[in-house]
Amino acid sequence: MIGMVRIVLSLGGSVLFPSLEAHTLLSYAPVLQRLCRQADIAVVVGGGGEARRYIGVARECGADEASCDEIGILVTRLNATLLLAALGDSAYRKVAQTPGEAVAYMGRQKIVVMGGVTPAQTTDAVAAVLAELSRADILVNLTSVDGIYTRDPKADPSARRFDRMTFGELLDIVGSGGLEAGSNTVLDIVAAKVISRSGIPLLVLDGRVPGLLEDVLAGRKRAGTLVCAPGKEPVPLLRAPSP
Ligand code: UTP
Repeated sequence: MIGMVRIVLSLGGSVLFPSLEAHTLLSYAPVLQRLCRQADIAVVVGGGGEARRYIGVARECGADEASCDEIGILVTRLNATLLLAALGDSAYRKVAQTPGEAVAYMGRQKIVVMGGVTPAQTTDAVAAVLAELSRADILVNLTSVDGIYTRDPKADPSARRFDRMTFGELLDIVGSGGLEAGSNTVLDIVAAKVISRSGIPLLVLDGRVPGLLEDVLAGRKRAGTLVCAPGKEPVPLLRAPSP
């Protein structure tokens, strides 16, 4: 039997809230609850379209970028609070405010949930720092694309998806992204640097199909892009999940 593992999930706001409705939250909750029977789970929730709308209004009002970021952080925490509502007793009842606080809540067989923390980064960076602090076995970025591509697949149809890649290749690809509030790249550069320096495996997976996460972690399917040191593939990480 494979022992208890520690998994940090970066759950994009655009994945969890394609619109402000309960539907996706309610389909993710049982997936996270099943994973929590086999692993220590921490989820960092993103801001999604709602954060971008708030940031847009703040910018029109003349707010500086750091203030826009603060507004984005509030929306991520609001989204995290909605996830807590959907998880009920399976989750630790408070949205952690810092990665350190999240680590302190882990290891109690409860799902730990948090949002953003400080300006000039995204929740991917928060999740990477949390993965580092908690010595996670893997960081999973659940996003609205099905992996990391050579170029933005929405802009360039000839872009090719990586099945596996090294940390060096990851840094090359994400190094060209922007940092303005609400900007949307597949993974922020801070997150890429953090996981690279600690060698934490990263799985970038399409989060729009909630069950895919279980299938890939249990080794039943290969999907998304796995970033890890050569020969150090972390999957399968879990037993095939029980219903
Ligand atoms: P997200 O992490 O959600 O960014 O934070 P995103 O790229 O829009 O991701 P999706 O769409 O949810 O997948 C939303 C915004 O909140 C601010 C940034 O402005 C970010 O763009 N933020 C978030 C911070 O400044 N610091 C944080 O720690 C988190």
